[in-house]
Amino acid sequence: MTEHDVELTRVTKTFAEVVAVDDVSFGIRKGEFFSLLGPSGCGKTTIMRMISGFETPTKGTITIAGEDMRNRPPFRRPTNLVFQHLALFPHMTVEQNIAFGLEMQGGSKAEIARSVGQMLDLIQLPEYGKRRIGQLSGGQKQRVAIARALVRQPTVLLLDEPLGALDLKLREQMQLELKRIQREVGTTFVYVTHDQKEAITMSNSIAVMNAGVIEQIGDANEIYENPRTAFVAHFIGETNLFEGKVDAMDGGEITVGADALAIRVPGNGVSTGQKVSVSVRPEKVVLGEAARELPNRYDGKVEDVIYQGSSTSYQIRLDGGRLVTVMEQNVERGEPRHAGASVTIGWRPDKGVLITEGLR
Ligand SMILES: Nc1ncnc2c1ncn2[C@@H]1O[C@H](COP(=O)(O)OP(=O)(O)O)[C@@H](O)[C@H]1O
Ligand SMILES: [Mg+2]
Repeated sequence: MTEHDVELTRVTKTFAEVVAVDDVSFGIRKGEFFSLLGPSGCGKTTIMRMISGFETPTKGTITIAGEDMRNRPPFRRPTNLVFQHLALFPHMTVEQNIAFGLEMQGGSKAEIARSVGQMLDLIQLPEYGKRRIGQLSGGQKQRVAIARALVRQPTVLLLDEPLGALDLKLREQMQLELKRIQREVGTTFVYVTHDQKEAITMSNSIAVMNAGVIEQIGDANEIYENPRTAFVAHFIGETNLFEGKVDAMDGGEITVGADALAIRVPGNGVSTGQKVSVSVRPEKVVLGEAARELPNRYDGKVEDVIYQGSSTSYQIRLDGGRLVTVMEQNVERGEPRHAGASVTIGWRPDKGVLITEGLR
């Protein structure tokens, strides 16, 4: 049995007629960096508020470190919550802010000072203890908020879009910083974000949410390379999604008819005529000479070229009318292909992913 720090079993939360969280079950392993990823309004915050005790599930159970949290108020749970809108005390110093929770708990002055010192080291602001919050940058404030949440040694730290207010550069720095802090303290982190890049950068596991349900849980590589639903394929990275029907089956490989194309893809457990989709990532598609011998091979014209330095993104209009996005690494130093050029594209069957769930 894997050791779970947090376990949700068939949890539903409704607000009047809104089903915010719909029969969700999952476990979070001890010491992992777990992300809840999904668009605005899909139920992420509601899950965090139920784990921390600020909301009660309409149905289902939540356990933390093996204990049922039913009827347990927030302040008696082994969790702490960090939001985007920091609840730091602006008129107090960094030290006073971090010490605040410990003083409420009781504890000797020397113990508190030692814990605060450790936290200042952890967030790499050892010289900043005497500064007032108002004298810190956005990123520094965010670190203090995290120190204040961690100083009481929660079993689980819940972070709800904590970097949302920071600009991109700082957010990227703080992502690495948070990951380092998590690795150092080993506390279970549950992180909410709508930003797929952020989730991929930081997480051991990602739960992709859509409209109150979890569509897939896995590590970043699993979710990117083997999306189970069309929503996941679209939400994580970019993809070409071909919606069609199973035309033929041949051993472990099937042919899907979609957008007037015949697409070969590995597939089992489907039947002829069944509605399916095939997801093909832009970087898995090759152009020109490299496409010539491939089973999935189509002719078209370059319609749009987006040069991105290390790579070029092409929009290719196939002869049958379908538009396909192709990403090519700029290994050579030459110029990209020009709009209007005739080109053949292709991909190996096993570069495609057959999707049978969550089709529209
Ligand atoms: N207190 C509430 N009362 C009514 N509806 C709510 C309440 N909290 C959340 N909701 C609704 O539940 C859904 C999920 O919200 P939320 O969990 O905040 O999503 P997210 O954090 O993913 O953006 C939304 O439709 C939202 O409007
Ligand atoms: Mg939210």
